[in-house]
Amino acid sequence: MAAAKTILRSLAGETLPTPPIWMMRQAGRYLPEYKATRAQAGDFLSLCYNPELAAEVTLQPIRRYGFDAAILFADILLLPQALGADLWFVTGEGPRLSTITTQADFDKLKPVGEIDAVLNPIYETVRILRQELPQETTLIGFAGAPWTVATYMIAGRGTPDQAPAHALKDENRELFEALLARITQGTIEYLSKQIEAGAEVVKIFDSWAGSLKGADFQKYALEPAREITAAIKARHPDIPVIGFPREAGDGYIGFAKATGVDCVALDNSVSADWAAANVQVDGCVQGNLASSHMVTGGQALIDETRAIVKAFSGGPHIFNLGHGITPDADPDNVQRMIDAVRGQ
Ligand code: CP3
Repeated sequence: MAAAKTILRSLAGETLPTPPIWMMRQAGRYLPEYKATRAQAGDFLSLCYNPELAAEVTLQPIRRYGFDAAILFADILLLPQALGADLWFVTGEGPRLSTITTQADFDKLKPVGEIDAVLNPIYETVRILRQELPQETTLIGFAGAPWTVATYMIAGRGTPDQAPAHALKDENRELFEALLARITQGTIEYLSKQIEAGAEVVKIFDSWAGSLKGADFQKYALEPAREITAAIKARHPDIPVIGFPREAGDGYIGFAKATGVDCVALDNSVSADWAAANVQVDGCVQGNLASSHMVTGGQALIDETRAIVKAFSGGPHIFNLGHGITPDADPDNVQRMIDAVRGQ
């Protein structure tokens, strides 16, 4: 039998001499080959829904860098679209969606049983990737966490402080919770189908978890992550789950125990030494180099990469950035980071 893939070993709780590595947004606009394929597809959403081309951009960073994992090329906003929201991307600005602020808006959404009509091409991308990825590379599927997805569905766009979602939560909690419940059920279905198509790990991105405080963090970040993880594990007991409650701060403490995730992904607002003492004590962590180092490079990139590897060397660790790599990053800095992790 071939040795288990490195990322699966880390997720199972093994401490490896060299942490496996992948990078959020590793397929993206900092790579000239990504830009070429995106141009061929026409636009971002056409790329997401074209299985051959989506598989191609997923493979590009694997060919260039030999990362230990590939992440399915798709987006967290495809689920809202499959639930019936209008979705489009404004160049240079980001996503736009039809908004949900009233019961009538919510009543127009589709039932979870109908999402596959839109999402089938995504499962096809997963099947192609399982054929084409190198044997040692782990395939990660993903979805947005319900709160983060809801912030986009309510506001119709990205918002710096998620104010429209907080307003709906405070003014019409019943509607807000009904929306979260629909997204939660849709996410369970979407992730299960990715797994059945061949995803070996799934990650739940809660990019805006940091704006939930106190009881709201418990109810709308922890609880949905627990519910999704439990449902995935009931159907697919061997599939590891990574949770990413970005900017949760102290909310990272106990997150794995409370939700059942196998690994907690850390953003770079927490120090690696703090996270080793407070989060890694419960199991595998992923992270957490500031993505700005992929722009600035130099000795600081090498020093900080080594410091993170060292801080997490006493337990299971998957090296990653604290958030996605940005379009202005230098592809050579990615190689320098990988070399620093792998000790060359
Ligand atoms: O990481 C990967 O390489 C896999 C693919 C992936 C994308 N988006 C592709 C993408 C993943 C895992 C995501 C997750 C995602 N999408 C999140 C959670 C992670 C995070 O960044 O906090 C969120 C909040 C979104 C929603 C989204 N998609 C926004 C806000 C934007 C616009 C901002 C931007 O970077 O342009 C996107 C677009 C998007 N998703 C791009 C990519 C490669 C850029 C689109 C392009 O090519 O123009």
